[in-house]
Amino acid sequence: MGKRVLLFPVPYQGHINPMLEIAAILHSRGFSITIFHTSFNSIDSTRYPLYRFILVKDGEISNQLGSLDDDMVHRVIAWNNSCEQLFYDCLTSVLSEKNEESVACLIRDTHWYNLQYLANRLGVPTFVLRTGSAATLNWYLTFPQLVQKGYIPVQESQLNMPVIELAPLRMRDLPRFGNCNHEVIGDSLTHSMDAIRASSGIIVNTFDAIESTEVEKFQKAIPVPVFCIGPLHKFTPPSRSNLLDEDGSCLEWLDKQAVGSVLYVSFGSHACMKFEELIETAWGLADSGQPFIWVIRPGSILGKDEVELPDRFIEVISGHGKIISWAPQQEVLGHAAVGAFWTHNGWNSTLEAICEGVPMICRPQFADQMGNARYVTHVWKVGIELEGKLERGEIVKVIKRLMKEDEGVQIWQRMRALKHEASLSIKSDGSSSINIDKLVNVISSF
Ligand code: UDX
Repeated sequence: MGKRVLLFPVPYQGHINPMLEIAAILHSRGFSITIFHTSFNSIDSTRYPLYRFILVKDGEISNQLGSLDDDMVHRVIAWNNSCEQLFYDCLTSVLSEKNEESVACLIRDTHWYNLQYLANRLGVPTFVLRTGSAATLNWYLTFPQLVQKGYIPVQESQLNMPVIELAPLRMRDLPRFGNCNHEVIGDSLTHSMDAIRASSGIIVNTFDAIESTEVEKFQKAIPVPVFCIGPLHKFTPPSRSNLLDEDGSCLEWLDKQAVGSVLYVSFGSHACMKFEELIETAWGLADSGQPFIWVIRPGSILGKDEVELPDRFIEVISGHGKIISWAPQQEVLGHAAVGAFWTHNGWNSTLEAICEGVPMICRPQFADQMGNARYVTHVWKVGIELEGKLERGEIVKVIKRLMKEDEGVQIWQRMRALKHEASLSIKSDGSSSINIDKLVNVISSF
């Protein structure tokens, strides 16, 4: 008899992608897939005819949360509290179906912490999917202690102070979530970590060669089984779960560029910039003389509904610059013409760059991005951080350092080695493949 796995992603791009990648992996191992999704950022189920989708009708709740759009922590807390009954109804209805396939387990996002207890009450073995790094788990565990010790909120004068408990992080690299109160953040992270303790194990989108120390540290604190099975996207064809329409014309444009010459610029699915920063970025890119693709997401310029580029900019960059609103990112990074990636260091983007061996210019903004950037620049040493006020002259300098100077060549060599490690992890005898086998065996045993 076949078995069914239930999946529940948090409805943001950086969380949906890895969950769908797990779906593809488990489906290829013979499991049937049922995905719960919310009305907010609902997934286009027509793109996944092999899976069953169940809508958790949170529409009214999400409308009420409209004003919290930029405040992810409060949104996550509100969802956890408000969706409990809705999710309970969906889950009990699936469990009561007379179906040939029994439900083997649920895989939920780390942030859906209340679901853990609900699933436990209903007797459904539940795994947590951590879509970010293993290191973030340790930062989140330590965050409430740092609040207690008075290190958080971080004082301006202490931004560069090392965080002894979380080397190599500095105070400025600790997770930040907009203006959300640090005690609220601490509480929410404590809930998330406690719920992992109550789970059947945690699946992390990472691989041993880059994070085994972080995993060991986490397991000492929370001794549940850990399955590092990343980079998930390398086990499946590119995800088509985009919440925005992608512009594939950039791939043809890349075909016409010299190998390793193009800078790809994209700040993921949430990060925004001020209008002044847009202007500096535009002229920094133009003045660098380097060919580039720049993703400017609709709505990503604060206070502007439409993207207004500086006068004459399009004329100046014609032939060597391309602006699009959403890229087929994995294909772009894998294209031979791309030589560097200016990124916000969302975890998916960071992993995707590592897998394609593309060195990074790091410009993190919030949540785990600062910490990810610190690992890129100071642990794996495969990127340069662009710190301080965004200014065209500094942008030109950092692009040159990475794409034209010796420093960049050394970074590129380290990145090639890291790419190789990533490719080993997904070979049939690689650490992540072995961990997928272990996970499949555990799920099959339920
Ligand atoms: C943010 C966080 O920074 C991340 O670490 C956290 O786990 C989730 O929230 P996000 O801004 O979505 O994530 O960035 P990232 O984690 O990099 O994910 C973005 C995804 O969108 C990537 O898979 C990337 O390939 C894709 N993308 C981005 C595109 O396909 N096209 C684009 O133009 C831009």
